[in-house]
Amino acid sequence: MKETVNVGILGFGTVGSGTARILLENRDLLSVRAGCDVVLKWVCDKDTVTDRGVELPDGVLTDKIDNLLDDPELDIFVELIGGIEPARSFILRAIEKGKHVVTANKALLAAHGLEIFSAAAEKGVEVAFEASVGGGIPCIKGLKEGLVANHISTIIGIMNGTANYILTRMTRYGDTFQEVLKDAQRLGYAEADPTYDVEGIDTAHKLVIMSTIAFGQKVTLDQVYTEGISRITPTDIAFASELGFIVKLLAIGRLSNGQIEVRVHPTMIPEDHLLSHVQGAYNAVYFMGDAVGKVMMYGMGAGQMPTGSAVVADIVDIARNISVGSANRVPSLGMPFASLKEAEIKPMDKVICKYYFRFMVKDSPGVLSKISGVLGENGISIQSVVQKGRDSEGAVPIVMVTHEAEEARVNAALDTISHIDFVLDQPLTIRIEDLDSLEDSL
Ligand code: HSE
Repeated sequence: MKETVNVGILGFGTVGSGTARILLENRDLLSVRAGCDVVLKWVCDKDTVTDRGVELPDGVLTDKIDNLLDDPELDIFVELIGGIEPARSFILRAIEKGKHVVTANKALLAAHGLEIFSAAAEKGVEVAFEASVGGGIPCIKGLKEGLVANHISTIIGIMNGTANYILTRMTRYGDTFQEVLKDAQRLGYAEADPTYDVEGIDTAHKLVIMSTIAFGQKVTLDQVYTEGISRITPTDIAFASELGFIVKLLAIGRLSNGQIEVRVHPTMIPEDHLLSHVQGAYNAVYFMGDAVGKVMMYGMGAGQMPTGSAVVADIVDIARNISVGSANRVPSLGMPFASLKEAEIKPMDKVICKYYFRFMVKDSPGVLSKISGVLGENGISIQSVVQKGRDSEGAVPIVMVTHEAEEARVNAALDTISHIDFVLDQPLTIRIEDLDSLEDSL
């Protein structure tokens, strides 16, 4: 029985200072819950001058990473600097030295997770990463432990607060993508370079992590189809609303016949579905399990204290295991690393769903029949068509909703349509997921 577990944090930024604050302020509570004293022994950052609003005990703050990595008494190494390097090398060194690792670094895990988990398995240490997905929502623990009884068939997540904030404002106030993005940057909600958030890359990182655990397959980032929200206009949001849908940036992982779909894209979902009510910077993750049915978890997907809450949860989990000598009681990926299978991914071309298309065209006779003709030739059946008034230049949006169609056929049809001379712009597509409406549960 170990009585003290020593923790070292690398990175004293937003999440690092939140984590330190919780460890210091809640030390008694955490120690009672962990069954051992959880001690913040080191905080390492290049910048040891800036006031982070957390008073560290003397001798804790350092700018020398070796103070952590070479400390034989350090049990848990917490990486909170983000990015690929040097985070990857420091984590591998910590593992090599037999230290357990906690990280919030989804980009690193999505790109190099298999290398890190394999090294940790060899060394018999834990790698925990609750804060990498859904901020403060315990969705990884929920999946690995709470839903352990289930074959998971579906994960659907709103996993990026920035994108969800932008879409929420566009939906509520009719603002354009660029207007909201500028505001979000001014208010500090969006990064100066928002590419990862708005182009779906951050969401794809999170989907790699969640689908690896849910389906027990080694999913890699290049297997995830990724499309962002930057081409969505208020016109699309307004059409969606007329059709009874809300537009969300979704991460979708679905297992059928042994193959998994992993895709991130703007999606229309029924406006009365629970996920449609996830607003602003909030995140939610929705699972479908064969025993439990539908489960949804909701909460703050980012922020100093919610993310710190998830990091500390991992620290306490590991401290509990260390104190009773049962490291890796729950494997990092929900099953022993050696049991994970190579991923069998359903090619995006084979994915089937309903589609919303918006074509910007010159308003002239025969346009509609030409477009529907091409769709018909490709076996795509139209469910409804809406055309609204011309703009000052005579351009008009034609909106179509299809019945279920295969992605390959849709791409072939859109390629032909985009080359027709009266089509003024690249067609805009938004996939539609019917999901189950709330009505179904009444
Ligand atoms: N950049 C992420 C978001 C937060 O906007 O949700 C951290 O994962």
